[in-house]
Amino acid sequence: MKVYITRKIPQKAIEYLKENNISFSLYKKDRPIPRKELLKNIKNVDAVLSLLTDKIDAKVIDAMNKCKVIANFAVGYDNIDVKYAKTKNIIVTNTPEVLTDSTADLTMALVLTCARRLPEAEEFLRAGKYTHWKPDLLLGVELKDKVFGVIGAGRIGKAVAIRAKSFGCKIIYFSHSRNSFLERKTNAQKVSLNFLLKSSNFVSIHLPSTKKTFHLIDKERLSLMKRSSILINTARGEIIDEKELIKTLKAKRILAAGLDVFENELNINPELLKLENVVLLPHIGSATQKARTNMAMIAVKNIVAVLSGKKTITPVS
Ligand code: GLV
Repeated sequence: MKVYITRKIPQKAIEYLKENNISFSLYKKDRPIPRKELLKNIKNVDAVLSLLTDKIDAKVIDAMNKCKVIANFAVGYDNIDVKYAKTKNIIVTNTPEVLTDSTADLTMALVLTCARRLPEAEEFLRAGKYTHWKPDLLLGVELKDKVFGVIGAGRIGKAVAIRAKSFGCKIIYFSHSRNSFLERKTNAQKVSLNFLLKSSNFVSIHLPSTKKTFHLIDKERLSLMKRSSILINTARGEIIDEKELIKTLKAKRILAAGLDVFENELNINPELLKLENVVLLPHIGSATQKARTNMAMIAVKNIVAVLSGKKTITPVS
């Protein structure tokens, strides 16, 4: 049995493959695997461990002669044509749960960074401009008693809502179905998306990237937001119409945005880089030692399970 791994992963996961007598090869360079290399290397393997930077479309899947499982090293799997993989009897797996806390923590870090203007404050100090304390220096906003709108009440949305509640926020959420756990835990109220955007001081996106969520936050929806509101996205860039967000930020029609994800992550819109009212991070939601190790472990455990005819741990539907 042979596995192809598209990028260096935590050693613990490599050891697990070895312990289970699974041979593997690995793309060793420190960059996303070029498509040509990917197409060449996945030909005769039984499993592929992919990253969210690998586009596993029909062409790539067709090149997999005998692959039984594609284990994505991510909770999101919008990089994979899951429907097409299914037609070829290839199981696709992801890494839910293990990155919920790290992503929810990072979301709150972005909320606070935007609310308290941390990048601006640090830049001010490093530039030698801090000479004395003064009453109106770098005033920001507090979280207590503010309305915190969570878009998507899945695992990460829930974890963010619980954190925001502990800061004293009033939680409202948008989701297709009612989440009674969330309501019990945070007194959250389920509302329509437009109501959420109109009423929230903080809006945080926690949805997968699908055809339905593409540009869900478009020009019209951005225009519903309060001038004093802060928009956070640690989910997927495509959910916001980024060009419209840039216009909104330029015109200061919202207070700020905190983004960990972008529409084109390999080539971030340079207009965003020029703006001061946006905090930009390089997709580090799950970037803790613990989360990344556990993500790798789930991916290899899924591979070993499928290749040994056992039940898959986290198949995607
Ligand atoms: C990260 O964005 C992930 O989907 O795991």
